[in-house]
Amino acid sequence: MKHIPMAGLSEMQRYWLITGSVGPRPIALVTSLAPDGLCNAAPFSAFNYMGEDPPLFAIAVVRYGEESHRLGEEKDTLANIRRREEFVVNMVDESIVDKAVQCGSDFPAHVSEAEAVGLTLEPSTTVLVPRIAEAPISWECRLFRMLDISAQRAIVFGEIVAMNFRDDLLDEERLRVNVDRFFPVGRLGGPHYCSTSERRRIPVPTYLATAGKPRE
Ligand SMILES: Cc1cc2nc3c(=O)[nH]c(=O)nc-3n(C[C@H](O)[C@H](O)[C@H](O)COP(=O)(O)O)c2cc1C
Repeated sequence: MKHIPMAGLSEMQRYWLITGSVGPRPIALVTSLAPDGLCNAAPFSAFNYMGEDPPLFAIAVVRYGEESHRLGEEKDTLANIRRREEFVVNMVDESIVDKAVQCGSDFPAHVSEAEAVGLTLEPSTTVLVPRIAEAPISWECRLFRMLDISAQRAIVFGEIVAMNFRDDLLDEERLRVNVDRFFPVGRLGGPHYCSTSERRRIPVPTYLATAGKPRE
C-alpha cells in the first residue's frame, strides 16, 4: 500500500486523489433560474442523498478554476440558488449523459445550456424552475441550507418538494422506482464514466431473525 497524507498536497492533488477514489458518483443536472428568467443547467457529481425526513440531499459547488475563462467567479447555479432558493435536480442516465456533460462547459451566464446542447425545458409543477424533459427522473427542490465552507466552496442542502418520473419508471402500486429500467450513469475520476447495466441483487441478512424485519 502507498500511504499519502493530505497535509502538504495542493488542492488539485487532493481533488484528483479524492474524486478518483469515490465512485461511481451519481450526476445531478441542476436547472436554476437567473434573475432575468434565463434557465441555467449544469452537472454536479459531488452529489448524494442525505435523508428522508426531511427529504434531503447535498451538492458541493466550487468556484470556477484555472481551466476556465471565468476563473474565480461563482458558478451560475450557486448564484441562482442563493437568490431564488429553488431549483430542479434532473437525474442523468445513458440517454442524456453526453448532453449533460456538455452542459458542464463554462458557458457565460447569458447562455442557456439546455438550449445550446439540445435538451428540452418543461415547466415544473411546484417550483418556477423548469425541468429537463428528457431526464428519466427529476426532483423539484427548495434550498434547505447553504453552508459556505470556504471562499471557494459551498455545500447546498436541498429539500425535495416533489418528484417526476418517466411513466415506466414508477411502480405506482408499491410507490417504488422500477430500478430495472433506470440506467443512471456514474462518474469516476475526471472524464471517466460508467454504465449501470450490469446488476446484482444482494439482500442484507438480518442478524436476529426473531427481532428484525428485513427491508425488501
Ligand atoms: C459530470 C460533471 C460533474 C461535475 N460536478 C461538479 C461538482 O460536483 N461541483 C462543481 O462545482 N462543479 C462540477 N462540475 C463542473 C460544472 O458543471 C461546471 O463548472 C459548469 O460550467 C457550472 O455551470 P454554471 O456556472 O452554469 O453553474 C462538473 C462537471 C461535469 C461535466
